[in-house]
Amino acid sequence: MRAAEIIRAKRDGRAITEAEIQAFVRGLVDGSWSEGQAAALAMAIVWRGMTRAECVALTQAMTHSGQVLDWRDARLPGPVLDKHSTGGVGDKVSLPLAAIVAACGGVVPMISGRGLGHTGGTLDKLEALPGYTVNPPRTQLLAALGAAGCAIVGAGADLAPADKRLYAIRDVTATVESVPLITASILGKKLAAGLQGLVLDVKVGNGAFLSGLDEAQALARNLVDVACGAGLPTQALITDMNQPLGRTAGNALEVAESIALLTGARAGAPEPPEPRLLELTLALAAQLLHLGGLDASVAAARARAEAALASGAAAERFARMVAALGGPADVLADARLPVAPVVRPVPALRAGHIARIDTRALGLAVVALGGGRARPGDAVDPRVGFSGLRPLGSALAAGEPLLTVHAASAADAEAAARAVQAAITLAEAAPPPTPVVVGRV
Ligand code: URA
Repeated sequence: MRAAEIIRAKRDGRAITEAEIQAFVRGLVDGSWSEGQAAALAMAIVWRGMTRAECVALTQAMTHSGQVLDWRDARLPGPVLDKHSTGGVGDKVSLPLAAIVAACGGVVPMISGRGLGHTGGTLDKLEALPGYTVNPPRTQLLAALGAAGCAIVGAGADLAPADKRLYAIRDVTATVESVPLITASILGKKLAAGLQGLVLDVKVGNGAFLSGLDEAQALARNLVDVACGAGLPTQALITDMNQPLGRTAGNALEVAESIALLTGARAGAPEPPEPRLLELTLALAAQLLHLGGLDASVAAARARAEAALASGAAAERFARMVAALGGPADVLADARLPVAPVVRPVPALRAGHIARIDTRALGLAVVALGGGRARPGDAVDPRVGFSGLRPLGSALAAGEPLLTVHAASAADAEAAARAVQAAITLAEAAPPPTPVVVGRV
């Protein structure tokens, strides 16, 4: 089956057959499809879309492109649960959420990804912790799950290898924004991970891959239908990405904020977590605990998730996970995160309220600082990014910092400062507040 014929068929708007989809996925794994051919088919799919039958076939082929995990022999102490986001800026929810769900009785072997386009990736964030391995052998993975109840890791060479190759190609060829490609990418990994429950965080807004509410709803519906159709109980929250999530964007900075959320939510802790980040973390955790049958209602699950944060039980789970996966032995006391050599505030050019944030532009500015990739396999600089991000509606005097840039050089910091000033619009009036959770499927 010639790759060029399959690409031509999709380019011309024809549905491709299950056998052709399987040939494409085989070609991704055995290397018989070149990077250019895979990118061309991905671009044709972005333009032409896929029928539901094509999307299901692509998802299944991705799932079975490698090993499908089975936890039955591992005698895990609770239901195997996971959450996945469609990608955002400053979205570090996975880190505290895995620990909260573990502290509440779930088992979370969280198969995560790297940065994609303008969005950050959970694996890139965790690799900012010295020694943390995202590709542990199965014995170490099981030991981490036993010690902590959660292990945030990569897909490994054997799990959904077709997605690993296509994901890296899509990252740098502007072929992320597609309902069937996102569906097959996320569910290809998740269906191979042997889960009993999955909650999806489908982002909407100017920092999401699909910015309109209708598109986000269509993606959420497609994800839930395809996952449930494959036998995995799945629910989705549609959540706001018209501003970065939390106060930081950039790998090491986001790990530090995650640790601050886990420890700062303890009763009496000095720094309260950023409210939208906390709200979304608890909302997704509660949904997942309820879906996994650990709580009779979402409200009851939410109360237990809050208690796990306040007591420090979730922070303790995170620390155990990091230590078990080779990271710092006491990450809560000393995370040993790398620090950028240039750290400088970016002043507001006028007084006003933050009326609009071009979230995608801020994500691209983090990539330009070295926090993401320009080509597959590029190294990322864990030190760089932004801290001190302020939410929409914040009031600033002229010259007050919009945020703080962390950069590898003064020239990089200067370029990022200009991008930030262009991305954040100040106006007389504050915009009306928007909730972080805008819908459910
Ligand atoms: N996350 C994924 O794993 N894949 C996508 O395509 C988008 C977000």
